[in-house]
Amino acid sequence: NGEQLVKYKEFWFPVRLFRPILSTQKYFKAKNTDIILSTTPKSGTTWLKALTYSIVNRHMYPIDQSPLLTSNPHSVVDTFEFHTYLKQENPDLECVPNPRIFSTHISFNVLPDSIRESECKIIYICRNPLDLFTSFWNFLLENKEDNHAKPISIDEAFDMFCKGYSAFGPFWDHILGYWNAHLNDSEKVMFLKYEDLKEDIAFHIKKIAEFIGFPFSLEEEKQGVVEQISRLCSFENLSNLDVNKTGSSMIFKYSSFFRKGKVGDWTNYLTPAMAERMLNLMESKLKGSGLMFKTYDDKT
Ligand code: A3P
Repeated sequence: NGEQLVKYKEFWFPVRLFRPILSTQKYFKAKNTDIILSTTPKSGTTWLKALTYSIVNRHMYPIDQSPLLTSNPHSVVDTFEFHTYLKQENPDLECVPNPRIFSTHISFNVLPDSIRESECKIIYICRNPLDLFTSFWNFLLENKEDNHAKPISIDEAFDMFCKGYSAFGPFWDHILGYWNAHLNDSEKVMFLKYEDLKEDIAFHIKKIAEFIGFPFSLEEEKQGVVEQISRLCSFENLSNLDVNKTGSSMIFKYSSFFRKGKVGDWTNYLTPAMAERMLNLMESKLKGSGLMFKTYDDKT
């Protein structure tokens, strides 16, 4: 999108985030109770934030009084590099109630050491790169008046993406970094795919809840709490809320975080040649890792 990137420890970071990231590495002190949501941009960050927040706070707010009904998920869960950057002199961020939930797009190798060393949990979500790129492309178009970046064509953007030159990319190294961390310690790093959540959200809500130590009781399951959370955080519900239709952060329109929410929308944007290039790339980069992505919605 013409945004300037800087390479650091083999990954490309937006220049505007470089200082916050360095400051995070220096100052962020993870607590054992922290929950870190880590994602490749456009993989379901907004959804994961809403779900995790709702699971953790379900006893504090009944579903019909959830702050998510009036606030965008990005304003209820902070990105820790910003938080730390703004509060360097207060590295413990004591003001944030426990368990603290933070999000980030930082690659696994660039996370602050204290995250790896503490007992905090990391939930990672990623998405098939065809939809990831398509979502990213549309997001940039949607916010183009605000980001002052030089416009580029979809062909050019796709070429750069495939060469690994994208914010927080190369995307395959980002994914493999967390995948290997998950294989190494699955109690520490949970690995999710957008497509799997689309297929069975109730199963994943329960899985996330167990992983972070907030499992649902039988009573809650009988009362349908899992389904209530699933409905509250659904694309249909969140995208139709006033705040998400009209609000914006300093950088992005909230509505741009809710576009279609589908698997396979890339077929409306990418040519067969582009798709073939990406599929070959995925095959070669993910070879031997045991990792695969669905690129179509089985149900349609
Ligand atoms: P599309 O552009 O394909 O529609 P992120 O939150 O990481 O920025 O990712 C945004 C993508 O997730 C967008 O994909 C958006 O529509 C989708 N999305 C946002 N909220 C969602 C939800 N509650 N359920 C499913 N998908 C959601």
